[in-house]
Parts: sequence; structure tokens; C-alpha cells
Amino acid sequence: MRNHGEVTAFCAARQIGFVVIGPEAPLVDGLADSLRGAGLSVFGPSRAAAQLEGSKGFTKDLCERAGIPTAGYVRAASLAEARTALDRFSPPYVLKADGLAAGKGVVIAQYREEADAALADMFGGQFGEAGAEVVIEEFMQGEEASFFALTDGAIILPFGGAQDHKRVGEGDTGPNTGGMGAYSPAPILTPELRGEVMNRIVAPTVRALADEGMPYSGVLYAGVMLTADGPKLVEYNCRFGDPECQVLMMRLESDLGEYLLACAESRLGTMPPLKLSPQTALTVVMAANGYPGTPEKGGAIEDIEAAEATGARVFHAGTALDPSGRLIAAGGRVLNVTALGADTAEAQANAYAAVDLIDFPTGFCRRDIGWREIEREQAG
Ligand code: AMP
Ligand code: GLY
Repeated sequence: MRNHGEVTAFCAARQIGFVVIGPEAPLVDGLADSLRGAGLSVFGPSRAAAQLEGSKGFTKDLCERAGIPTAGYVRAASLAEARTALDRFSPPYVLKADGLAAGKGVVIAQYREEADAALADMFGGQFGEAGAEVVIEEFMQGEEASFFALTDGAIILPFGGAQDHKRVGEGDTGPNTGGMGAYSPAPILTPELRGEVMNRIVAPTVRALADEGMPYSGVLYAGVMLTADGPKLVEYNCRFGDPECQVLMMRLESDLGEYLLACAESRLGTMPPLKLSPQTALTVVMAANGYPGTPEKGGAIEDIEAAEATGARVFHAGTALDPSGRLIAAGGRVLNVTALGADTAEAQANAYAAVDLIDFPTGFCRRDIGWREIEREQAG
């Protein structure tokens, strides 16, 4: 990570007055505090508030203090402590490295032996510092959805919902990834459920952090499990998700910059509600062969223009230009091919029509993004 002084100097040299911090690592590292200290306006939470993503144990304790519905849990700071705590849980066992682990710090184990081995790996340094402490949780049954809100620490503006597809393979099989595709809205988050998530999860979190002297300013991404007992918090992210961000932006009709600045300047209360298109946006991630293991680098990509001529938008995630100026793959998740439609089925058809025009022989994508919702649409 770049030194905070370097970033501050860069902003000063170019007379930059407003900074939007995207990813979690610099937020958890306190870059927002450093830039605010230098007199800049910043979109993104302080180091203290970013603990919501940076420490699973911090968030679980906060939920307990504020009465926010989430899975029961135990924090453990040593392998012996964790093994003893595990006796109180029944399978499947949910084990989480406390700190940031790029989405790889969660293990769901069916058997005790598997859980013991995973704990040994975590405390053995598999995730470095992130695994110095572990959270063990009750397993929650249900469907997952994501809910987004902007807040300046006092006012909260809902930003809609989305659903991601975390597994690499069709039918939600294979290893976990950062996300292979998403859609928004997520009709499973009915207006009633969105109200519950706001009132029972997001608002009490914002209030508790403010009361405890660490007001949260930025975007709050609540991952929730829709259980038989109502929505429960799975985790918080202190950023727009990837690929959830792409579908939210595709639907956004308000001026994003105005809202981010209003958050930074603590005047979200002066802004009208965000306007989102009633259409559905769906994005398909095109990844490089090998992902989520070792992705093949350098594969040529052509015909993005043809895909965009259909009305789709192709967001670049892991691309580069080679010395001759050709577009090539330079990461795991390479492109997000995103389209709108009247419903999920139409948005899916539009997105895949664009995908099929892109020439990326060393890449792949899931062909079933949106399947749960489309099944529900077809069931009527
Ligand atoms: P997290 O990084 O905390 O979001 O966890 C990654 C994934 O593990 C989540 O998106 C869920 O699919 C799953 N997961 C996490 N915690 C639980 C839980 N308590 N019960 C069931 N599944 C969970
Ligand atoms: N797509 C999940 C995340 O950004 O954390």
C-alpha cells in the first residue's frame, strides 16, 4: 500500500480537494483519517468505523451491544480456546479469520475434523495477521442478499439491493470467488424486508457507531441472510461490492458525485432520495481461465465495442494494454458485461447477447447469472 503521506502530497500537488476511497484495505488502514487530517473532503469511513469490515469480532460485539440480529458467535484468540469453543456449536461449523482476507477467510466445515484442521491453519498463519483471532458462528439457513445505504453518520439514504453469485461454477458450485455476477434489484428483498434491514440492522449500526464516537461516513454494504426468523446480518463491507457496484451504477439516475460529496460534507439530509431505474441490471463477470486459482495472464480481448453497441456496458476490472496497444487480460476477474432489461430474464438475455460478441478465448463466464430470480419470475 502507498504511504499516506505520498497520497496527501499527490493531492496537494494537483489541488485535489475531494477523494473517494474505493477498496477496503486503505479504509481499514486509516487513509480517510490521514486525508481528512490534511484538510481534504473524503468519501469513506474512518479507520475506527471501517472496523465493521476490518474485524469480524468488532462487528459481532457491536451487534450484541446494539441488539442487531445476527448469528450467535464466540471470539477466540488461540487455537486451544477455539477448540474448546467449538464444542458448543453443531455442524456445519462457520469459522472466520477476524481480519481482512480478500474474501477467503471464511470456512464452512461439515465435520469436526475439518473444522479443527481449518482452525489450525488459521492460527498457523494461513491468513497472516488476519487469522490471529477467529470468530466461530452459528450456521444460518436462508438465501443471501445485499443491501446498500449511503450515510454521513446521521442521515441514511437507502441505495437498493442486489444479489451476487459467489461460486465459480454454474448452479452455485465449486470454489468461492469475489463474485461471478450480480443483479439489482433483488426482488426477494421486498419493500417490507428492506424496511426491516434498515430499521433492525443498518440504522442501529449507524446509531451505535455515532454514539460510541466513531460515526460512519460512506457506503455501508450489509450482507444479510433471509432466515425463517427474519433478516440477519452476515457481514458488513465498508465499500460498494464488486460486482454489485456495477449493477447499482447501471440503474443509478441521480448524480453519484453530488451524493458522495454530500456524505463527505455531512449534509446528506439536504439531498432528495436517490433515483434508481425501475429496470433490472444484470452483470456477467468474464474471468481468465484458472480463476479463482492462478488466472492466465495476457490473453487477447477483442470486440468490446461490438458488445457495447448493443446498449450493454463493459466495465474493465482486470485488463491492460500490451506494448502494441492491444487489450489483454491482466487479472482474475477481467470484464463485467452489464445490461438492463424489464426483468431479470430480459436483463440476462441482453447481458449474454453482449458477452457472446466479445472475443476472449482465454476467458470464461458462468452462463446462469440470475438463475434463482429467473426461476421465481417463471414460476409467476
Ligand atoms: P462473509 O465473508 O462473512 O460474508 O462470509 C462469506 C460467506 O460465507 C457468506 O457470504 C455466506 O455465504 C457464508 N456465511 C458466512 N457466515 C455464515 C453463517 N453464520 N451462516 C451461514 N453462512 C455463512
Ligand atoms: N461481491 C462481494 C464483495 O464485493 O465483497
